[in-house]
Amino acid sequence: MLDLSGKVAIVTGASRGIGRAVAVLLASRGAHVVAAARGEHAAATVAAIQAAGGRADAASLDVTDTAPVHAMVGGALERHGRIDILVNNAGIARDQLLLRMKREDWDQVIATNLTAAFVCAQAVLGPMIKQRGGRIINISSVVGQAGNAGQTNYAASKAGLIGFSKALAREVASRNITVNVVAPGLIDTDMIRTISDKARSDWAAQIPLGRLGATEDVATAVCFLASDEASYITGQVLAVNGGMYM
Ligand SMILES: NC(=O)c1ccc[n+]([C@@H]2O[C@H](COP(=O)([O-])OP(=O)(O)OC[C@H]3O[C@@H](n4cnc5c(N)ncnc54)[C@H](OP(=O)(O)O)[C@@H]3O)[C@@H](O)[C@H]2O)c1
Repeated sequence: MLDLSGKVAIVTGASRGIGRAVAVLLASRGAHVVAAARGEHAAATVAAIQAAGGRADAASLDVTDTAPVHAMVGGALERHGRIDILVNNAGIARDQLLLRMKREDWDQVIATNLTAAFVCAQAVLGPMIKQRGGRIINISSVVGQAGNAGQTNYAASKAGLIGFSKALAREVASRNITVNVVAPGLIDTDMIRTISDKARSDWAAQIPLGRLGATEDVATAVCFLASDEASYITGQVLAVNGGMYM
Protein backbone atom coordinates (compact mmCIF):
# COMPACT_ATOMS: atom_id res chain seq x y z
CA MET A 1 0.00 0.00 0.00
CA LEU A 2 1.32 3.45 -0.91
CA ASP A 3 2.65 5.13 2.21
CA LEU A 4 2.57 8.92 2.57
CA SER A 5 3.47 9.04 6.27
CA GLY A 6 5.26 12.24 7.22
CA LYS A 7 4.28 14.05 4.01
CA VAL A 8 2.38 17.33 3.98
CA ALA A 9 -0.10 17.78 1.14
CA ILE A 10 -2.10 20.81 0.03
CA VAL A 11 -5.28 19.99 -1.89
CA THR A 12 -7.28 22.85 -3.42
CA GLY A 13 -10.99 22.47 -3.97
CA ALA A 14 -11.13 19.91 -1.16
CA SER A 15 -14.66 20.68 0.03
CA ARG A 16 -16.42 18.22 -2.26
CA GLY A 17 -16.14 16.03 -5.34
CA ILE A 18 -12.73 14.93 -6.55
CA GLY A 19 -10.77 17.21 -4.21
CA ARG A 20 -12.52 15.82 -1.16
CA ALA A 21 -11.82 12.23 -2.27
CA VAL A 22 -8.15 13.11 -2.89
CA ALA A 23 -7.82 14.75 0.54
CA VAL A 24 -9.44 11.77 2.28
CA LEU A 25 -7.28 9.22 0.44
CA LEU A 26 -3.98 11.04 0.95
CA ALA A 27 -4.79 11.40 4.65
CA SER A 28 -5.70 7.71 4.91
CA ARG A 29 -2.20 6.91 3.59
CA GLY A 30 -0.61 9.00 6.33
CA ALA A 31 -0.23 12.47 4.84
CA HIS A 32 -1.15 15.58 6.79
CA VAL A 33 -3.59 17.32 4.47
CA VAL A 34 -4.25 21.04 4.17
CA ALA A 35 -7.74 21.09 2.64
CA ALA A 36 -8.50 24.36 0.85
CA ALA A 37 -11.81 25.80 -0.33
CA ARG A 38 -13.80 29.00 0.00
CA GLY A 39 -15.39 30.09 3.24
CA GLU A 40 -15.66 27.29 5.74
CA HIS A 41 -16.45 24.74 3.01
CA ALA A 42 -13.47 22.45 3.69
CA ALA A 43 -14.35 22.01 7.38
CA ALA A 44 -16.50 18.92 6.74
CA THR A 45 -13.67 17.24 4.81
CA VAL A 46 -11.27 17.93 7.67
CA ALA A 47 -13.80 16.59 10.18
CA ALA A 48 -14.24 13.39 8.13
CA ILE A 49 -10.47 12.88 7.92
CA GLN A 50 -10.02 13.45 11.64
CA ALA A 51 -12.94 11.17 12.49
CA ALA A 52 -11.16 8.41 10.56
CA GLY A 53 -7.97 9.01 12.57
CA GLY A 54 -6.19 11.11 9.94
CA ARG A 55 -4.55 14.53 10.18
CA ALA A 56 -5.82 17.60 8.38
CA ASP A 57 -6.51 21.28 8.70
CA ALA A 58 -8.67 23.57 6.64
CA ALA A 59 -7.59 26.63 4.66
CA SER A 60 -10.25 29.14 3.78
CA LEU A 61 -9.41 30.86 0.52
CA ASP A 62 -10.39 31.72 -3.01
CA VAL A 63 -7.66 30.29 -5.24
CA THR A 64 -7.99 33.26 -7.58
CA ASP A 65 -6.61 35.55 -4.84
CA THR A 66 -2.81 35.48 -4.72
CA ALA A 67 -2.14 36.77 -1.20
CA PRO A 68 -4.30 34.18 0.60
CA VAL A 69 -2.60 31.38 -1.36
CA HIS A 70 0.80 32.57 -0.14
CA ALA A 71 -0.61 32.93 3.38
CA MET A 72 -1.91 29.33 3.25
CA VAL A 73 1.51 28.03 2.17
CA GLY A 74 3.27 30.15 4.80
CA GLY A 75 0.89 28.90 7.49
CA ALA A 76 1.36 25.26 6.47
CA LEU A 77 5.15 25.70 6.57
CA GLU A 78 4.97 27.28 10.01
CA ARG A 79 2.79 24.49 11.39
CA HIS A 80 4.31 21.49 9.64
CA GLY A 81 7.78 22.59 8.49
CA ARG A 82 7.45 21.28 4.92
CA ILE A 83 5.24 20.90 1.86
CA ASP A 84 5.65 17.72 -0.13
CA ILE A 85 2.58 17.54 -2.32
CA LEU A 86 0.41 20.13 -4.08
CA VAL A 87 -2.77 19.04 -5.83
CA ASN A 88 -4.22 21.82 -7.97
CA ASN A 89 -7.78 20.58 -8.17
CA ALA A 90 -10.09 23.59 -7.63
CA GLY A 91 -12.03 24.18 -10.81
CA ILE A 92 -15.21 25.56 -12.30
CA ALA A 93 -17.12 25.38 -15.57
CA ARG A 94 -19.08 28.26 -17.12
CA ASP A 95 -20.30 26.63 -20.33
CA GLN A 96 -21.57 28.55 -23.33
CA LEU A 97 -21.08 28.56 -27.08
CA LEU A 98 -18.24 30.91 -27.97
CA LEU A 99 -20.47 33.35 -29.85
CA ARG A 100 -22.49 33.92 -26.68
CA MET A 101 -19.79 33.57 -24.07
CA LYS A 102 -19.40 36.53 -21.72
CA ARG A 103 -15.91 37.85 -21.18
CA GLU A 104 -16.34 37.42 -17.42
CA ASP A 105 -17.09 33.70 -17.85
CA TRP A 106 -13.94 33.30 -19.92
CA ASP A 107 -11.86 35.22 -17.37
CA GLN A 108 -13.27 33.46 -14.32
CA VAL A 109 -12.65 29.97 -15.72
CA ILE A 110 -9.09 30.79 -16.77
CA ALA A 111 -8.39 32.44 -13.40
CA THR A 112 -9.74 29.52 -11.35
CA ASN A 113 -8.58 26.58 -13.44
CA LEU A 114 -5.26 27.80 -14.84
CA THR A 115 -3.92 30.96 -13.20
CA ALA A 116 -4.54 29.59 -9.71
CA ALA A 117 -2.36 26.58 -10.52
CA PHE A 118 0.45 28.97 -11.47
CA VAL A 119 -0.01 30.92 -8.23
CA CYS A 120 -0.13 27.81 -6.01
CA ALA A 121 2.83 26.16 -7.76
CA GLN A 122 4.88 29.33 -7.45
CA ALA A 123 4.05 29.52 -3.75
CA VAL A 124 5.21 25.95 -2.97
CA LEU A 125 8.27 25.80 -5.24
CA GLY A 126 10.63 27.65 -2.88
CA PRO A 127 9.98 25.25 0.02
CA MET A 128 10.11 22.21 -2.29
CA ILE A 129 13.44 23.31 -3.75
CA LYS A 130 14.85 23.85 -0.24
CA GLN A 131 13.73 20.41 0.89
CA ARG A 132 15.03 18.90 -2.38
CA GLY A 133 11.85 17.27 -3.55
CA GLY A 134 8.15 17.55 -4.11
CA ARG A 135 5.16 16.51 -6.13
CA ILE A 136 2.83 18.81 -8.04
CA ILE A 137 -0.27 17.23 -9.54
CA ASN A 138 -2.61 19.28 -11.69
CA ILE A 139 -6.16 18.16 -12.40
CA SER A 140 -6.91 18.74 -16.06
CA SER A 141 -9.74 17.08 -18.03
CA VAL A 142 -10.50 14.95 -21.04
CA VAL A 143 -11.97 18.18 -22.40
CA GLY A 144 -8.49 19.71 -22.41
CA GLN A 145 -7.33 16.80 -24.57
CA ALA A 146 -10.29 16.29 -26.92
CA GLY A 147 -12.18 19.61 -26.83
CA ASN A 148 -15.93 19.91 -26.36
CA ALA A 149 -18.46 22.27 -27.94
CA GLY A 150 -19.70 24.84 -25.45
CA GLN A 151 -16.56 24.64 -23.34
CA THR A 152 -13.92 26.75 -25.11
CA ASN A 153 -13.03 28.50 -21.86
CA TYR A 154 -12.85 25.26 -19.87
CA ALA A 155 -10.96 23.39 -22.63
CA ALA A 156 -8.45 26.23 -22.94
CA SER A 157 -7.86 26.23 -19.18
CA LYS A 158 -7.44 22.45 -19.02
CA ALA A 159 -5.22 22.22 -22.12
CA GLY A 160 -3.25 25.12 -20.67
CA LEU A 161 -2.65 23.10 -17.51
CA ILE A 162 -1.08 20.33 -19.58
CA GLY A 163 1.38 22.69 -21.29
CA PHE A 164 2.06 24.44 -17.99
CA SER A 165 2.82 21.12 -16.29
CA LYS A 166 5.19 19.88 -19.00
CA ALA A 167 7.12 23.17 -19.01
CA LEU A 168 7.35 23.27 -15.21
CA ALA A 169 8.33 19.58 -15.09
CA ARG A 170 11.36 20.42 -17.24
CA GLU A 171 12.22 23.46 -15.09
CA VAL A 172 12.25 21.63 -11.76
CA ALA A 173 13.25 18.05 -12.59
CA SER A 174 16.84 18.70 -11.50
CA ARG A 175 15.45 19.66 -8.07
CA ASN A 176 13.75 16.27 -7.69
CA ILE A 177 10.32 17.84 -8.05
CA THR A 178 7.88 16.05 -10.34
CA VAL A 179 4.95 17.72 -12.08
CA ASN A 180 2.22 15.57 -13.55
CA VAL A 181 -1.35 15.86 -14.75
CA VAL A 182 -4.39 13.72 -14.05
CA ALA A 183 -7.02 14.11 -16.77
CA PRO A 184 -10.38 12.76 -15.60
CA GLY A 185 -13.19 11.89 -17.94
CA LEU A 186 -16.78 12.13 -16.77
CA ILE A 187 -16.76 11.87 -12.98
CA ASP A 188 -19.94 11.84 -10.93
CA THR A 189 -19.74 15.10 -8.96
CA ASP A 190 -21.66 18.38 -8.59
CA MET A 191 -19.79 19.73 -11.61
CA ILE A 192 -21.41 17.43 -14.14
CA ARG A 193 -24.85 17.81 -12.57
CA THR A 194 -24.95 21.20 -14.33
CA ILE A 195 -24.61 19.45 -17.71
CA SER A 196 -27.89 18.70 -19.48
CA ASP A 197 -29.21 15.13 -19.28
CA LYS A 198 -28.80 14.78 -23.04
CA ALA A 199 -25.16 15.93 -23.03
CA ARG A 200 -24.47 13.66 -20.07
CA SER A 201 -25.95 10.61 -21.74
CA ASP A 202 -24.17 11.44 -25.04
CA TRP A 203 -20.87 11.54 -23.16
CA ALA A 204 -21.66 8.42 -21.11
CA ALA A 205 -22.38 6.48 -24.33
CA GLN A 206 -18.76 7.13 -25.38
CA ILE A 207 -17.24 5.44 -22.32
CA PRO A 208 -15.86 1.98 -23.20
CA LEU A 209 -15.81 0.88 -19.57
CA GLY A 210 -19.53 1.58 -19.50
CA ARG A 211 -19.88 3.80 -16.47
CA LEU A 212 -19.22 7.28 -15.16
CA GLY A 213 -16.10 7.58 -13.04
CA ALA A 214 -16.21 7.83 -9.26
CA THR A 215 -14.21 10.42 -7.35
CA GLU A 216 -12.13 7.59 -5.86
CA ASP A 217 -11.05 6.54 -9.37
CA VAL A 218 -9.32 9.91 -9.73
CA ALA A 219 -8.05 10.00 -6.15
CA THR A 220 -6.15 6.71 -6.53
CA ALA A 221 -4.33 8.07 -9.60
CA VAL A 222 -3.40 11.25 -7.73
CA CYS A 223 -2.24 9.22 -4.72
CA PHE A 224 0.04 7.12 -6.93
CA LEU A 225 1.62 10.18 -8.55
CA ALA A 226 2.13 11.69 -5.09
CA SER A 227 3.92 8.59 -3.80
CA ASP A 228 7.59 7.61 -3.76
CA GLU A 229 6.67 4.82 -6.17
CA ALA A 230 6.09 7.46 -8.88
CA SER A 231 9.47 9.15 -8.40
CA TYR A 232 10.61 8.52 -12.02
CA ILE A 233 7.43 9.89 -13.61
CA THR A 234 7.27 13.55 -14.59
CA GLY A 235 5.65 15.68 -17.27
CA GLN A 236 3.00 13.02 -17.91
CA VAL A 237 -0.75 13.09 -18.39
CA LEU A 238 -2.54 10.19 -16.69
CA ALA A 239 -6.03 9.83 -18.15
CA VAL A 240 -8.69 8.47 -15.80
CA ASN A 241 -11.58 8.37 -18.21
CA GLY A 242 -12.88 4.82 -18.65
CA GLY A 243 -11.33 4.80 -22.12
CA MET A 244 -13.51 7.61 -23.52
CA TYR A 245 -10.44 9.27 -25.03
CA MET A 246 -7.38 7.21 -25.98
N1 LIG B 1 -16.44 16.02 -12.51
C1 LIG B 1 -15.89 15.79 -13.69
O1 LIG B 1 -16.47 15.10 -14.56
C2 LIG B 1 -14.52 16.33 -14.00
C3 LIG B 1 -13.93 15.88 -15.18
C4 LIG B 1 -12.67 16.33 -15.52
C5 LIG B 1 -12.03 17.22 -14.70
N2 LIG B 1 -12.63 17.67 -13.57
C6 LIG B 1 -11.88 18.63 -12.75
O2 LIG B 1 -11.69 18.11 -11.46
C7 LIG B 1 -11.64 19.18 -10.52
C8 LIG B 1 -12.68 18.93 -9.44
O3 LIG B 1 -13.94 18.84 -10.05
P1 LIG B 1 -15.24 18.31 -9.31
O4 LIG B 1 -16.03 17.61 -10.32
O5 LIG B 1 -14.86 17.65 -8.05
O6 LIG B 1 -15.95 19.72 -9.02
P2 LIG B 1 -16.93 20.19 -7.87
O7 LIG B 1 -17.60 19.05 -7.20
O8 LIG B 1 -17.74 21.28 -8.48
O9 LIG B 1 -15.89 20.82 -6.80
C9 LIG B 1 -15.12 21.92 -7.17
C10 LIG B 1 -14.18 22.25 -6.04
O10 LIG B 1 -13.41 23.39 -6.44
C11 LIG B 1 -13.51 24.37 -5.43
N3 LIG B 1 -13.41 25.71 -5.98
C12 LIG B 1 -14.04 26.20 -7.07
N4 LIG B 1 -13.71 27.49 -7.24
C13 LIG B 1 -12.85 27.81 -6.23
C14 LIG B 1 -12.16 28.97 -5.86
N5 LIG B 1 -12.26 30.11 -6.57
N6 LIG B 1 -11.37 28.93 -4.77
C15 LIG B 1 -11.27 27.80 -4.03
N7 LIG B 1 -11.88 26.66 -4.33
C16 LIG B 1 -12.67 26.66 -5.42
C17 LIG B 1 -14.86 24.13 -4.78
O11 LIG B 1 -14.82 24.67 -3.49
P3 LIG B 1 -15.98 25.62 -2.86
O12 LIG B 1 -16.55 24.80 -1.76
O13 LIG B 1 -15.22 26.80 -2.37
O14 LIG B 1 -16.96 25.94 -3.96
C18 LIG B 1 -14.91 22.60 -4.77
O15 LIG B 1 -14.22 22.10 -3.67
C19 LIG B 1 -11.90 20.45 -11.32
O16 LIG B 1 -10.67 21.05 -11.65
C20 LIG B 1 -12.59 19.94 -12.57
O17 LIG B 1 -12.40 20.81 -13.65
C21 LIG B 1 -13.86 17.23 -13.20
